Amino acid sequence: MTDRLLDLANTPWAAPIVRALRLPRPRVLARRTAPRSPQEFAGREVQVLEGLGGFAAASCSEGLASQGAGLSGKGSLHAVVVDATGCTTADSLAWLHAQVPSAVGRLADSGRVLLLANGDAQGPEAAACARAIEGFTRSLAKEAGRRGGTANCIYLAPSALPALAGPLGFFCSDRSAYVSGQALRLREAQAAPALALQGRTAVVTGATGGIGIVTAERLAADGMFVVCVDVPATAAALDALARRIGGSALPLDITASDAGRQIAEAVSPRGGVDVLVHNAGITRDRTLARMTRAEWDSVLAVNFRAVLAIDRALDEANALRPDAREICLASISGIAGNAGQTNYAASKAALIGYAEERARELADRGITVNAVAPGFIETAMTDRIPFMVREVGRRLNALMQGGQPADVAEAIAFLARADAQGISGQTLRVCGQSFLGA
Ligand code: NAI
Repeated sequence: MTDRLLDLANTPWAAPIVRALRLPRPRVLARRTAPRSPQEFAGREVQVLEGLGGFAAASCSEGLASQGAGLSGKGSLHAVVVDATGCTTADSLAWLHAQVPSAVGRLADSGRVLLLANGDAQGPEAAACARAIEGFTRSLAKEAGRRGGTANCIYLAPSALPALAGPLGFFCSDRSAYVSGQALRLREAQAAPALALQGRTAVVTGATGGIGIVTAERLAADGMFVVCVDVPATAAALDALARRIGGSALPLDITASDAGRQIAEAVSPRGGVDVLVHNAGITRDRTLARMTRAEWDSVLAVNFRAVLAIDRALDEANALRPDAREICLASISGIAGNAGQTNYAASKAALIGYAEERARELADRGITVNAVAPGFIETAMTDRIPFMVREVGRRLNALMQGGQPADVAEAIAFLARADAQGISGQTLRVCGQSFLGA
């Protein structure tokens, strides 16, 4: 899990050699993984650019200032928010070219750019312009990546403004270090308290794995009681994790016929589950012609069928609390496909479709359902990939490096929060703007 090029490119004596050899020069990314603070942006300067006719700039300034951001316009910037909701004609797009470069030029390394596009665009020209903002974002993200920065886009309508504070906080902060070139749609929702996590109950499956363990720790750090689920063979590690974070351990094979019932029973004394993270997953890679039926079945069973069965059991037991958050771990393999992973890609794409439709079904109870799709994450799993294949996988993104499990955990923690209620039925990629399936 060591990225030697990242180390060398950021070491004073070695950096000139890396440059001379024309090797990729990834930057060390600024990350924030501490529990959420009401003053997330204390000591940080942010600039909000207001496009003609836009409706979001005032809410952005207010939202960022209330989280401690400085808006004086002085010094180097941590983030730039571009209110492009008023860009609804082809002519108006020139505003991007006129205004954005000078602000972006003042960004510090690992700076953030967030563009807001009109999610309520009326007519073909306005819809095209909103999409132009997304295209602009994706290219800007590739440029920003050279300095460890990111750019992302949110589509929103005026009715979604009350739900903007949470996503604004995530995309403008160092919590989204490995999320870039993404576009999410914010739905209409009421404002929600930012820090309403204390005492809530989370369930994380695959909790002793590379991403699961950091996710369980992260949710516990935000004040949640975490029920840690993993196969019985990991019972000792599961116990140690649960003890460390003040949660409970549930050794369980999620493909067991009574897995959903066992999870429902585990959360019942706590009144149900507030945050459900379907994280357990396996790979059994082989090209389709050589793949055995057992390899196909086992991947579909763990990655997809177990999710369906657990949710069905939780629904029957009415165990999902109102305003619950459900998060399914998909993969960019489920978006781009990958040779040797027909089983895995099918299961992960299934979760993306599942999250879309289940979100609709549960919307009237305030429950959100989303997928998180990691790209190349530095875990024991990716460390086992042969060197050359690993190097390619790791560098093929705008940030020229792999992500950390903590990056995925931050994305999950963001979607788990009360103030992410405007995001549902969507897939958030944590992939450094991977060039695969972009
Ligand atoms: P990992 O292999 O480190 O952890 C997976 C965990 O799931 C393990 O602790 C394992 O014991 C558990 N598990 C497997 N089968 C189970 C079963 N039947 N019942 C209960 N638990 C079971 O994997 P990692 O890297 O932490 O991945 C977590 C999730 O993220 C997975 O769904 C994976 O597909 C997904 N993902 C990971 C990527 C990466 O680069 N590491 C990239 C894209 C997606």
